[in-house]
Amino acid sequence: MIELYLDTADVGQVARFNACLPVQGITTNPSILAKADVGLSQLLPAVSAVIGPYARFHIQVVSQTVDGMVEEAARIHDLPYDVVVKVPATETGLAAIRKMKADNIPVLATAIYSAQQGFLAALCGADYLAPYVNRIDAMGADGAGAVADLQLLLDRHGLASKILPASFKNTQQVVDVLKVGVAAITLPVDVAAQMLAHPAVQPAVDRFTQDWQVVFGDKLPFES
Ligand code: E4P
Repeated sequence: MIELYLDTADVGQVARFNACLPVQGITTNPSILAKADVGLSQLLPAVSAVIGPYARFHIQVVSQTVDGMVEEAARIHDLPYDVVVKVPATETGLAAIRKMKADNIPVLATAIYSAQQGFLAALCGADYLAPYVNRIDAMGADGAGAVADLQLLLDRHGLASKILPASFKNTQQVVDVLKVGVAAITLPVDVAAQMLAHPAVQPAVDRFTQDWQVVFGDKLPFES
């Protein structure tokens, strides 16, 4: 089954969606954590309490050098949670990823803007690849198309990396990457909510209630 993540540091929203969806964990980046003004020492136990002990956390390094990233990854990896270290798929980041994989650290290559960039990260052994669908679309290119090309390259070359598309602004972008057959996905909570929010749904449910009550009043079906 596809791994479903929420792209958020909002524990209340994690609880909301974990109640109705099989949420695997959360993805974060430095901007998300800074905007929420929450550190890992507070966030990880809070989300684990909601999802359970098997929650998976994708946590991004902020260091700018290979040695700094590798050292930071080791510290993140030591946290007592199921963590995947996010590393930007830059030249520096790919060098760091190679060293992290030599140490068997789970890695997600992030900030992927093209199929070829994602392919190189896969060659370096990244476990997950995060193409930024909306950011690619916003540049006038085709985010879902890049995801489809990347999946094809992985399949064609027998590379085991999982694509975990990120950066969504609408539900059509989500459907477009799901059609590719990606192994994972991370949704912003507003887009997750939009996926449940078709305007015809509640009127349909209300009509069932009205029709039932006209004939059966407050009885439940098994009492009718
Ligand atoms: C994953 O965590 C990415 O950093 C994130 O999805 C980027 O999303 P944005 O383009 O909405 O900032």
